[in-house]
Amino acid sequence: MKHGAQALHHLLPILVAGVLAAGSSLGNAASTPKVQPGSAADFRAAFATPQDVAEGKRVAEASCASCHGITGISTAKGVPHIAGQRPLYLYDEMRLYQRGNRGNTPMNNAVRFLSDDALVKVAAYYAGLDPAPPATTPAASGKIAVKADPASAGKAAAAGCAGCHGEIGISKTAGMPNLVGLDPKYLVDATNAYKNGQRKHDMMKTLVSGLSDADINNIAVFYATQKPGKAQTPAPGNQAAGKTAAAACAGCHGDGGVSTSTAPSLAGQDAQYFIAAMRAYKDGSRADPSMKAPASSVDETTLKDMAAYYANQAPQQPKVRKSLTIAEMAQRCDRCHGVDGNSTDPRSPALAAQRTDYLERVLRLYRTGERKSKAMTAMLDGLSDADLDALAAHYARQKARAVIYVPLPSK
Ligand code: HEC
Ligand code: HEC
Ligand code: HEC
Ligand code: HEC
Repeated sequence: MKHGAQALHHLLPILVAGVLAAGSSLGNAASTPKVQPGSAADFRAAFATPQDVAEGKRVAEASCASCHGITGISTAKGVPHIAGQRPLYLYDEMRLYQRGNRGNTPMNNAVRFLSDDALVKVAAYYAGLDPAPPATTPAASGKIAVKADPASAGKAAAAGCAGCHGEIGISKTAGMPNLVGLDPKYLVDATNAYKNGQRKHDMMKTLVSGLSDADINNIAVFYATQKPGKAQTPAPGNQAAGKTAAAACAGCHGDGGVSTSTAPSLAGQDAQYFIAAMRAYKDGSRADPSMKAPASSVDETTLKDMAAYYANQAPQQPKVRKSLTIAEMAQRCDRCHGVDGNSTDPRSPALAAQRTDYLERVLRLYRTGERKSKAMTAMLDGLSDADLDALAAHYARQKARAVIYVPLPSK
């Protein structure tokens, strides 16, 4: 063995999760690994002899080292570290490159003409190496990392609103609108409209004038994430007649008043507020181009009936993407990628201490679907570029733990 001091590490890539006493016999090792059941072929890359590793090293020298280094620790932008990466993952990815199913990079050519045997061995070689040290770049920018949970911040900021709008935005006072079940964007716009005088209401203007933009956003998220309920206020009127008349409004306000457009939801709304709002649109004191015509076509009796109908519809929680801190988001990733990105599943890549530039790039490739993985594309749906960069920085800074290898006797 000429791998020098680390020879024992490289000796044998049985990937096990957790600690195995050094010197385990082959029998123990073979029965202990917590690898998932799979066909023998699937696991070739997880089992190798010292001879395989030595041959893998020769493949690496000839075909990989020019880009990945013989240490598997890359010094070139765009080239990932592969030292200490999980062996089945390395093997699987090389096969994807070989078949042209992943990207169009120098990698496709590098593995195109290698035999399956060579792939198994070179995967075993790199998997056994010590991983790269963690990046020392500053922690991810505070954008999402340090932001307090908006719903709890919003709850505190909304304390003064409860007297009229109810504890969680379910009104108990006729004339006071329900705020629960409303899309956060609508709540923000409505609050700002009072603040800047566009929507004329002196009392509401005074009440919200001291709120910062962050307060308003947080309050909107708070109400939007509460369990919705109908306003607990009287709603006299003929619901059946109201339902018929409401058909004209469903295009914008949704079936049953649960909106899927930018128009506010009306389901569960306080009846007296509903009537007041319609009258305000009618007489122009609340000016809105989409509501002017619908409101002017409704007579007073129908108005009351519609108010009763909408007040009795069940409001639904609007879709709100919960905003997570980096740490909370990373916990979701760690379910597959292991604690701090140290995967214990031979099929899931380790992320710890990977190059930041590489992580930033592949995360974008998954998000656009260019690099294909259903699990990854679903995970990244809706995340911003800033979120991806923060996650990349988070994982690059984690300490990578090598997988533990147990020697197998040579063939
Ligand atoms: C000409 C430069 C070059 C050579 C030679 C090369 N690679 Fe790569 N390798 C890259 C680049 C660039 C990427 C990133 C490509 C991408 O984003 O898909 C990469 C990606 C990989 C990946 C995917 C890593 C991951 O975390 O998903 C593996 C595995 C890999 N290389 C193994 C090898 C092995 C083994 C060899 C030798 C048989 C080799 N490469 C030869 C440049 C090279
Ligand atoms: C004293 C009672 C009172 C308090 C306290 C109060 N509001 Fe209001 N709010 C009202 C009334 C009445 C209306 C209806 C005004 C109108 O006709 O435009 C209203 C309307 C609103 C609307 C518009 C709802 C819609 O469906 O368009 C929002 C948003 C709102 N309030 C937010 C708040 C927030 C946030 C607070 C706390 C910072 C607050 N309100 C405190 C009485 C109150
Ligand atoms: C073309 C789309 C459209 C149609 C049709 C429409 N609305 Fe609206 N409606 C809106 C929009 C947009 C708003 C928000 C306007 C604003 O911010 O003042 C709104 C606001 C309202 C509000 C105020 C809600 C609140 O929380 O303050 C009520 C009540 C309402 N509509 C009732 C109706 C009724 C009843 C009908 C049918 C007769 C109807 N709308 C038809 C688009 C529409
Ligand atoms: C349900 C399991 C699962 C979850 C949750 C998950 N991943 Fe993955 N991830 C995978 C699998 C499987 C792959 C390999 C897919 C492939 O072959 O391209 C992967 C690949 C990756 C890669 C490419 C690694 C490399 O070396 O090229 C990165 C980066 C990554 N994931 C980051 C994340 C982040 C960040 C999150 C959380 C937002 C996350 N993953 C959540 C399963 C998951």
